[in-house]
Order: sequence, then C-alpha cells, then structure tokens
Amino acid sequence: MKITVIGAGNVGSLAAMRIASDGLGDVLLIDVIKGLAHGKSLDLEDARAILKNNYKIKGSDDICQVKDSDIVVITAGLARKPGMSRDELLAKNGLIVKDVCLKIKELAKQAIVIVVTNPLDIMTFYALKITGFKREKVLGMGVSLDAARFANLIACELAIPVTDVEATVIGAHGEMMLPLPGFTKIKGVLLDEFLDDKRIGVLVSRTINRGAEIVANLGTGSAFFAPTAAICAMVRAIVKDEKRTLGLCCYLNGEYGIKDTCIGVPCRLGKDGIEQVIELGLSADELAHLTKSATAVAQATAKLLS
Ligand code: NAI
Ligand code: 2OP
Repeated sequence: MKITVIGAGNVGSLAAMRIASDGLGDVLLIDVIKGLAHGKSLDLEDARAILKNNYKIKGSDDICQVKDSDIVVITAGLARKPGMSRDELLAKNGLIVKDVCLKIKELAKQAIVIVVTNPLDIMTFYALKITGFKREKVLGMGVSLDAARFANLIACELAIPVTDVEATVIGAHGEMMLPLPGFTKIKGVLLDEFLDDKRIGVLVSRTINRGAEIVANLGTGSAFFAPTAAICAMVRAIVKDEKRTLGLCCYLNGEYGIKDTCIGVPCRLGKDGIEQVIELGLSADELAHLTKSATAVAQATAKLLS
C-alpha cells in the first residue's frame, strides 16, 4: 500500500510518521520546498533503529512521485495565524489544492484522497471537482478532530477517562460546526445526565474555539498533534477495511436535505472509502443549524469557483 502525504510541514510530517510507524503502508512525503520532505524522511528513517520498527518512508520535492498512490493525504497549504479565520486561507490554498489535485487525477486515478488543508469543507469540494473522482473516494478530516476536542473537554470537566466519552460533532470544520450533546454519551449514558445545559453550553463554545485557542497560544502555526491522530485513524480505517463510523467531510447529495456541498457528517469508512453516510435523527433546531452551516460552505465554495 503506497500512502503519499503532500505537504511536509507540521501536520504532514507528523502524519507521515504516525502512518508509517503504525505499519499502515509505505509512506512518501512530498513538499514543494526543495529538500524539505527528503530531509525529514531521512530523520524519520533514522528513528527506526531506536523504535525497532522497519517502517518505510521516503521524501521528495517532485509531485509526480504521487504516481500510483493508493491513498493521498493533502496537507499542503498555509496554516492560519493568530486572529485569522480558516476561510481567510481560501484563495491561496485553493491554488495549491488545485495544482496537487490535477497531478493526483493524472497519476493516481485509483487513490482515495483525504483532504486536510483549510478551509477544509471547501477544499474537499474543490478536490472532488478537480479530480473528478467518485464521492466515495474524496473525504476531508475535520469533525473527527472537533469531536476529539469535545470529548477531551468533557472528560476534563467531569474528571473521567476520555476513553469513556463518545462525542459527536457535525457541520463545517469552522466557527459553524455543530457539537451535538444529544448524540454524545458517557459509557452509553447521555451527556445531560452528567451536566446541566449551561455547563454543556460552555463546553460546546470551547470546542468551537479550540483550534483558535491553540493558534493564539502557539503564536505561529496551528494544531498538529490531535489533527494527525485523526488523519491516522482515517487512514487505518481504509487500510484495514474497518468499516468504522467516523465524522468526516463528505459530498452530500440529498442526505440531511443538503445537496452539492461537502460537509462533516458521520460516515462508515472502509477499503473503498466512504461506504455509508449515516443520517442522524436531528432535532429541527439542529437540522436548521446544519443547513445554515452547509449554506455558508456552499456560498464560499461558489466564490472560489467563480
Ligand atoms: P505548515 O505551514 O507547517 O506546512 C504546510 C506545508 O505545505 C509547507 O511545508 C509548504 O511548503 C507545503 N506546501 C505548500 N504548497 C505546496 C505544494 N503545492 N505542494 C506540496 N507542498 C506544499 O502547515 P501545517 O500546520 O502542516 O498545516 C497544513 C494545512 O492543514 C493548513 O491549511 C492548516 O490550516 C490545515 N489543518 C487542517 C486541520 C483540519 O482539521 N482539517 C488541522 C490542522 C491543520
Ligand atoms: C484546527 O482546527 C487548524 O483547522 C485546524 O486546529
């Protein structure tokens, strides 16, 4: 299995290491900066002797090396700076994703593409359009990271193991995401048995702002430890044909009453990519919020395509 990670920055290089060291395939790291991906791959290769792990990793500055990849993870692009929204990255990252996707279309027709570059939902739609691949083969990583953040904040608030929490977030990976307390459980028991509405509301807001909170603290760059854990979980679900339900950005064609837009919803992920879109029984308010989130993504996408 050839897994190519495009963009050897914070997210790409750590994602490559996680994917390789988990034994999910032979990893190729590509970056437009001469020597960067190759240098990082040499460093990652050196770690093998200490980790007692024979993983295979290479680096290149030649995008044509994406040829015949089974999975391509796109992390190429700018990360936001303090005070910047993900949407402000639109124009520059749009050009980068377009270039990369044209090469994937030409050289790796059979690949499953995982988009990570922000603004995530718009870039996923763009990748789908540029490659012309089936919707099952192009997905975005966003709401599974947001759900991990929601779960972590709940676990910290209640001082319980995070492994006891199963959190759900849908919608756009941005300010209009929709953490769903009504689909969030602790050992099978709904969250509102443990916390009142006010405390839940605070955790929901903190989840929505978590990425910005991290950016503000880092001063430069954005999160990469939790994002790469989420990327790796998606790659694993595909490689191992887990058919696991994960939140991911997917092209909707009528599900949730939404058409021709990519947005985060729970999906089953296996060897063929997205195997099923799960339709949660949302309340009228939740559905209205999701629809609003999708409309905002569709409008921004139209701006990019115009
Ligand atoms: P970074 O700045 O550390 O790395 C980006 C890398 O992309 C750089 O090394 C740059 O040279 C490379 N690059 C630019 N154009 C390229 C091209 N045409 N071909 C190959 N490589 C190219 O940024 P970081 O932190 O790795 O983030 C990358 C992207 O992922 C950003 O857009 C960021 O907002 C996004 N992100 C998305 C998350 C999500 O949940 N969807 C989570 C974390 C980051
Ligand atoms: C995050 O949520 C930057 O989208 C990235 O941390």
